[in-house]
Amino acid sequence: MTPGLFITFEGLDGTGKSTQLRRAVQYLRKCGHRVRVTREPGGTRTGERVRDILLASKTGKLAPLAELALMYAARAQLLEEVVRPALARGQVVVSDRYNTASFAYQGYGRELGTATVRAFDRVICGSTQPDLTIILDLDPERARGRALGDTRRKSRLDRIEAAGMAFHKRVRAGYLAVARSAPERVKLVSADQSIDELQRQIRALIEPLLARKGRNSKVEDRKSKIENRKSKVESRKS
Ligand code: TMP
Repeated sequence: MTPGLFITFEGLDGTGKSTQLRRAVQYLRKCGHRVRVTREPGGTRTGERVRDILLASKTGKLAPLAELALMYAARAQLLEEVVRPALARGQVVVSDRYNTASFAYQGYGRELGTATVRAFDRVICGSTQPDLTIILDLDPERARGRALGDTRRKSRLDRIEAAGMAFHKRVRAGYLAVARSAPERVKLVSADQSIDELQRQIRALIEPLLARKGRNSKVEDRKSKIENRKSKVESRKS
């Protein structure tokens, strides 16, 4: 167990994931937590270069296994450079997507199956799994409509977003399946409600974890004080 907390946001494009993440981060900071925000694929210099390959339309068709391997290559870099060090320092790491996206998009969307994704995940993520994964759920047709309606995106879809509706329906089914398989850690919230109501529900999911983190860090503080006292006594004896 690390002293930090790892929270990931997931969902189809157009579900309002990034807005909700931003507001959750503001809230965490207001509560006095040190927060490290990141995104996937990307979040490191190398990861952002890999992201360009993955999302640029000019990349064209990638073999599904190549796509999966690139997602996990970027993730390996992010884990080493950002996630693990931040968790070890006791920070709250908030990531816009993480491994659940690979299960949904590559496992279900690209039909590679969960066993293949799990094999990569075991090697690359190992025990660095999120404490909480929040999936914003919305019907894929509506999500697509919202994504295209968002003028900030200049209605340009990236290579993966541009895949057909059948693909996005499989991705959503994948998200629902992951949520069913790990209900204590992976939480579904309906994105079909107001921004404020959605944020209220998200905070209600985060708060119990913050309380637990507070208790853990008090225990850790007490443990390290005892260790310090012990080592002072030992050094006086010798
Ligand atoms: P973003 O636009 O939310 O940053 O996500 C980039 C795209 O990458 C999005 O269409 C989902 C996709 N993706 C995967 O297919 N597999 C993954 O493991 C991750 C992290 C993202």
